[in-house]
Amino acid sequence: MATGQSYPRSHSSSNGIGFHTAYQLASHGAKVYIGARSDEKAEAAIRQMRTSNPAISADKLHPFIADLGDLRAVTSAAQNLLTYESRLDILVHNAAILSMPVVLDSYGISVAFATNHFGPFALTKALLPLLKKTAETSPGVRVVTVSAPAYKLLPPGIRFDSVTSFNIELEPTQIGDAAFTRYGLSKLANLLFARQLQKNFDEEGIKALSVSLHPGLIKTDGTIKMVRPENQQAFAQRMSPPDGALNTLFAATNPEVWEKKEKFGGAYLVPHGKIEEPIGNGANDKLATELWATSEEVLHDILT
Ligand SMILES: NC(=O)c1ccc[n+]([C@@H]2O[C@H](COP(=O)([O-])OP(=O)(O)OC[C@H]3O[C@@H](n4cnc5c(N)ncnc54)[C@H](OP(=O)(O)O)[C@@H]3O)[C@@H](O)[C@H]2O)c1
Repeated sequence: MATGQSYPRSHSSSNGIGFHTAYQLASHGAKVYIGARSDEKAEAAIRQMRTSNPAISADKLHPFIADLGDLRAVTSAAQNLLTYESRLDILVHNAAILSMPVVLDSYGISVAFATNHFGPFALTKALLPLLKKTAETSPGVRVVTVSAPAYKLLPPGIRFDSVTSFNIELEPTQIGDAAFTRYGLSKLANLLFARQLQKNFDEEGIKALSVSLHPGLIKTDGTIKMVRPENQQAFAQRMSPPDGALNTLFAATNPEVWEKKEKFGGAYLVPHGKIEEPIGNGANDKLATELWATSEEVLHDILT
């Protein structure tokens, strides 16, 4: 991996998938921006990475501070980055709220949906000029969005045509409670966002690639909190956080992904590096277009 590349990415917990994604990128010579809600969290992650691998020099790891649920803050942090960074080769959307009932933010959008979908959407929109500029000289810029198979839990006929549609109450399933089904709604948005972004790149002739993926079932801080007593044994079999970073690293760095752009562009990958055809709402191209259009309107209203 060439040095001098920049990779803003979201996540700070040292027992999470994002930490290990950033750690591996930095260990292989990339300049990485560590997304976190606070300086303390980003600095703690940076310290831990440099302790684990002293070969990572101080100039390779930088904090990128923004609460993904605060769309003005996300946009302003991204715009600030545009003033001093000259390239951006990889953007990884990893951070998420794994399960949360409907709680509305000050714009009337569910906090979890705002964080999991609108945060990455606003960040991508604001960083687009830098992604475009980088792609002009270095084709194969990547935007990697971490989704989840929880998108399959949704009933058919999901719409993304209004703010109300982002806040719908959903039923529990055999897999989880209603809040977990709602997490699936945001993960559906992640998958559709990634596919629509690829269409937009192609229409605008931007030499970039967008994919979504399932990282695998991973023992992270977030999932440890959610495990039910009766599922402890199955949970123990889950993959480790470093293994949870592998599919993202494949999507973000494997040359084959760009060389076979026709195959991988807009795809949903399952561990490791395999394309899985989305099903149900995830296969609905019109829904992807609808999500993009509504998200643009909502973001515009918030930012103006
Ligand atoms: N683990 C799995 O089995 C699994 C399976 C399928 C998909 N995934 C996906 O993998 C990704 C990572 O999951 P994980 O298991 O590593 O989750 P996790 O341990 O809960 O970590 C989530 C991270 O997101 C950050 N975050 C949450 N809200 C944020 C906000 N508003 N602004 C900025 N950062 C925020 C958290 O930061 P704080 O420390 O500040 O809370 C935390 O570091 C997610 O997209 C998830 O949907 C995971």
